[in-house]
Order: sequence, then structure tokens, then C-alpha cells
Amino acid sequence: MLLKDHVVLITGAGSGLGLGVAQYCKAQGAAVIVTDIATDKIQSLASEFDEQDLLLSCDVTKIADLERCKDAIVQKYARLDAVIGAQGVFDGNLPIQGMSTQHLDQLFDELFNINVKGYLLTAHIFADLLKQSQGALVLTTSTAAYAADGGGAVYTATKGAIRSLIQQLAFEFAPEIRVNGVAPAAIGNSQLKGPKALNLDHQKQSDIPKDAFLNLFQSISLLQELPNAEDYGALYAFLASKQNKVMTGQTLVADQGLLNRAVLTQSH
Ligand SMILES: NC(=O)c1ccc[n+]([C@@H]2O[C@H](COP(=O)([O-])OP(=O)(O)OC[C@H]3O[C@@H](n4cnc5c(N)ncnc54)[C@H](O)[C@@H]3O)[C@@H](O)[C@H]2O)c1
Repeated sequence: MLLKDHVVLITGAGSGLGLGVAQYCKAQGAAVIVTDIATDKIQSLASEFDEQDLLLSCDVTKIADLERCKDAIVQKYARLDAVIGAQGVFDGNLPIQGMSTQHLDQLFDELFNINVKGYLLTAHIFADLLKQSQGALVLTTSTAAYAADGGGAVYTATKGAIRSLIQQLAFEFAPEIRVNGVAPAAIGNSQLKGPKALNLDHQKQSDIPKDAFLNLFQSISLLQELPNAEDYGALYAFLASKQNKVMTGQTLVADQGLLNRAVLTQSH
């Protein structure tokens, strides 16, 4: 039980990665605070968690929402041991040359707001609680931060920003708070949405037929399974736990061997 007696907040946990990680953390003994901007997702999760947990609507780009969430945590637990950031929006993997400058402008604001500012505000607001518990902050970046074509230019830039933020916050929050990240390659049961700025918010990663996604992934990765959100749970749980006495400022690249091949051959 990696997370026995831990209280763990997960942002963007209404579906996909955050939900899988929240379930994993609970199975490892944690009381979890499951939050998401999507109230309908939060409401639908009531039967999956119990009275030791909290399910809250929270838009991480809104200071008032984060403060409300913090008040609820202090009232119920009077402590917080880890914050796991998992929210995100995608850019549809579209090249910027195909869009107008106005669309690019709006796309930048939307994605940086959710994918970067949301993490930064969350870190800032919960830092005092994490400091008291000698806790951990775990942020989500992506293999897009390490190699081209994991997203379009704007999504990739947001994930690069998180990769750097992990290093800087580890420096600023040391020695009390350990700050690390995870860079997943793909998530089979993700509902990752496109951006409103390009009218793509009705599109979800889960719309891609599973076989097509699996075939694409198998053609470029060494490990031949398309991971589900829960498969990343152990990495997050370890980094969120007091068992991690040895890492801060690092990102675990959980890429199924994707980045290990410089040149693609027909088969391996
Ligand atoms: N899907 C992939 O293949 C993949 C690969 C690498 C990294 N990631 C990253 O993993 C993370 C989780 O994505 P996912 O694939 O599980 O998608 P997902 O859409 O299933 O989960 C993301 C959640 O974030 C929530 N969210 C969006 N804006 C928010 C806000 N302002 N405040 C609070 N919550 C908000 C959404 O409602 C959603 O429930 C993201 O950071 C994503 O960039 C995903």
C-alpha cells in the first residue's frame, strides 16, 4: 500500500489518465480528492468512490474554484500529501500553417490557460499544505515535449513548458516538496478533447477507432500494447508517495519505447 494514510488531490480526474490514476491511488490506500471542470463527469463517478473521498467540480484556471477546493480539503482532512495534475486539452495535431493567425492566437490562449496556467495556479495554491506534509507534486507532460509530431505546435509547447516547470518548481519548493512529472505516450481510454478555438471541442481521442489507434501505435512503439490510464498509475502513485525519497525535478518518460528508435525499419 504505497499511499496508506495519504490524502491525494487529482485535477482533471473526470476521465482518462486522471481517473485511472485516482482509482490506482485509492487502491493503494489513499483518500482521493477527484476534481474536474466537467460537473457531469464528477457526478457520474459517485459510485466508484466512497465517504473517505471527495468529488468536486473545479476549473483549475479559476482561482476561486481552487480556493474552494482547498477549503473543502482542509475542512475534511486538515492535510494534503500530494497533488497530481492531469488536466489537458489537445490541439488536434494540426499544423499552424493551415490556420489563420486569429485562430492561432485563440488556440494559444486556450491551451496555455488549461495546460500550463492551470498547473501553475494549482501548485501555487496548494504549496503551503504540501509544505506542511513534506508532500509531493506530480505533473503531466507528454512525449510531445521530447520529439516532434506528438501534437501540433501549441500542444507541444504547453507540454515543453510543463517539462521545464517541473524542474523550476522542484528548485523553488525544495527541500519540503518533491516535484516530478510523467510523460505518457498514449492513453487507450482517453477522452482528450480538441480545442474550442478551432471548433474541435466536440472531437475526442476516444472517437478514433481503437484498432486504428492500436495499429498506429504498434507501428512506432517497441512495447506492443496501447496502455490504458491505469497502467500509468504505479508511476504516479510512487512519485506521490513518501516512498519517493530519491527524485525531484525529474520526468519519467513512459513512452512504450517510442523514443528509442531514431530510424524506423519495416519491422523489429
Ligand atoms: N491521451 C493521450 O494519448 C495523452 C498522451 C500524453 C499525455 N496526455 C496528457 O494526459 C493528460 C490527461 O489527458 P487524457 O488523455 O486523460 O484526457 P481526458 O480528456 O480523458 O482527461 C482530461 C480531463 O481534464 C479535464 N479538464 C479540461 N480542462 C480543465 C480545467 N480547466 N480544469 C479542470 N479540468 C479540466 C477534462 O474535463 C478531462 O476530464 C493531459 O494533460 C494530456 O495532455 C495524454
